[in-house]
Order: sequence, then structure tokens, then C-alpha cells
Amino acid sequence: MGSEFKDKTVLITGGARGIGFATARMLAADGARVALADIDGAAAVAAARELAPAGDALGLEADISQPEQVRTAVAEAVRRLGPIDIFVNSAAVLDDKLFLESGPADWERMLSICLRGPMLCLREILPAMIDRGWGRVICLASDAGRVGQARLSYYAAAKGGVIALVKSIAQEVGGRGVTLNVVSPGATNTPLRIEREAHMRAQMGEERYARRIKSVLKLYPAGRLGEPDDIAAAIVFLASERAAWITGQVLSVNGGFVMP
Ligand SMILES: NC(=O)c1ccc[n+]([C@@H]2O[C@H](COP(=O)([O-])OP(=O)(O)OC[C@H]3O[C@@H](n4cnc5c(N)ncnc54)[C@H](O)[C@@H]3O)[C@@H](O)[C@H]2O)c1
Repeated sequence: MGSEFKDKTVLITGGARGIGFATARMLAADGARVALADIDGAAAVAAARELAPAGDALGLEADISQPEQVRTAVAEAVRRLGPIDIFVNSAAVLDDKLFLESGPADWERMLSICLRGPMLCLREILPAMIDRGWGRVICLASDAGRVGQARLSYYAAAKGGVIALVKSIAQEVGGRGVTLNVVSPGATNTPLRIEREAHMRAQMGEERYARRIKSVLKLYPAGRLGEPDDIAAAIVFLASERAAWITGQVLSVNGGFVMP
């Protein structure tokens, strides 16, 4: 256990599982006080309990698409753990539909969680970071948002929006000690992906699905898909003091899947 983050408070949305939780575990192991905000409050509390032996941790229920819930969760994290130094937006949902099969209700749900959600969080969290002259923001996007992906059009659109948002705010606050960056994962073995794959497997049948997996792996020069810790390691670096001169950047962590 290290101490690189021993004076830092971290808030991670979607921190109850997947990439958010892997990041929380790494930061807590390096001494950070971690708040996990998740729409699944019980899972957030259980995840925080799992982390507690490695450091202070707090589980909070919050839907990041709801301004009041974001406000309450941020206030509670600050009250219990101190001002937020590092913010990671990992919360997201995924849909698996052709654009022409989707409609306004699908788009609105996606955009309200995956794009408006980080906006609401940043509006709440950034002013104190600016006042204190230090802050790290890392938003999760997706390579789908960089190069597009069939059946993920409005998810990709939301993630492309996150990239534009982060770059723009990074320009606005560049001189205030606050950096904002995007980590853009390729296919990573988290509950999000595992659930989507289980759905596809059921639809395709075993033989077609096995062929799909083979062809997906061929797209990854590294020869394997990602694990949550692969992505968390990049987030932790961007959250560190060492990354002070990196801002407004998009880092694909993807085994070489695309090289945009
Ligand atoms: N896993 C992948 O292959 C992959 C690929 C590219 C990008 N990403 C991105 O990485 C991030 C993390 O993904 P993951 O795979 O760990 O997902 P995950 O589903 O395993 O975890 C996401 C968490 O977000 C929470 N959440 C969902 N909606 C929420 C809301 N409205 N408010 C608060 N919390 C909410 C969920 O309850 C869950 O705990 C996401 O932004 C995702 O878009 C993942």
C-alpha cells in the first residue's frame, strides 16, 4: 500500500462496479479517501465497505442525471471526506440498437445520463477545485465516441460530446491548477460488457457467437480484451501530481483497437 494520494479526496460516479470500482480500489490502496456515487446505492455502500480496510470510503446513492441528487451526493462527500480533489465520471449506460430502431426516449435517456450527467457533476464540483487551485477530472468516454460504432450510435454521440465538453472546459480553466482529461476504453471485461455479451450470445446462438468473439479479438493487436485494472491504471496516472501538464487530452486505452 502506497501513500501517493494520502491527502486526496476522490469522488467516482458509477463507482460501485467495473472500471469505477477498479479505480477506487487503486486510489484507496494509495491512501485516497474515496466516495463512490452510484444509482445502485446498496452496491455503492457494499463496494465502499469492501474498500474500507484500505482507506476511508463512502458509498452514496445518486442518479447523475438528476441535479438534486448530484448536489446532495457531492455535498455529502465533501462533508464526510473533505473537498473533492479528484473527480472520475465512470457512470454510464449502454444500449444495443440500430439508430433506425431507436427513438427520442432512447436518446434522451442516454444523453441525460452519459452527457448531461457529467455536466451536472462538473458544474457542482469544479468551482471548489478552481478556488483551491488544484483539481483532477477524468471522464470516461469510449472509442465508439472517437470512431463511431454500429448499434451504439447515440451512446457514441454522448461520448463524443463528453470529449468535446472536457476539451472545452480544460481550455477555460487551464491556468487554475485544474486538469481535465478523457480516458477512452476499448472493450473491457466489466459487468457492462458482460451483460451486453450475454444478451448477444442468447440472440446469436453458440456457434455464431463463438465466431463473433474470434473476429472481435482479431481487432485487438494486443491479443486480448481489456480488464478494469488496465483502464484504472491510466485514470490513476492522470489523477496524479505527475500528470500536471496533461490537460484536454483523450487517452485511448484499448490494446491497439483503434489508433485515432
Ligand atoms: N466496459 C467497456 O467495454 C467500456 C468500453 C468503453 C467505454 N466504457 C466506459 O467506461 C465507463 C465504465 O464502464 P463499466 O464498463 O465499468 O460499466 P459498469 O456498468 O460495469 O459500471 C457502471 C456503473 O454506473 C452506474 N450507473 C449507471 N447509470 C447511472 C446513473 N444514472 N447514475 C449513477 N450511476 C449510474 C451503474 O450502476 C454501474 O455501477 C462508462 O463510462 C463506459 O461508457 C466501458
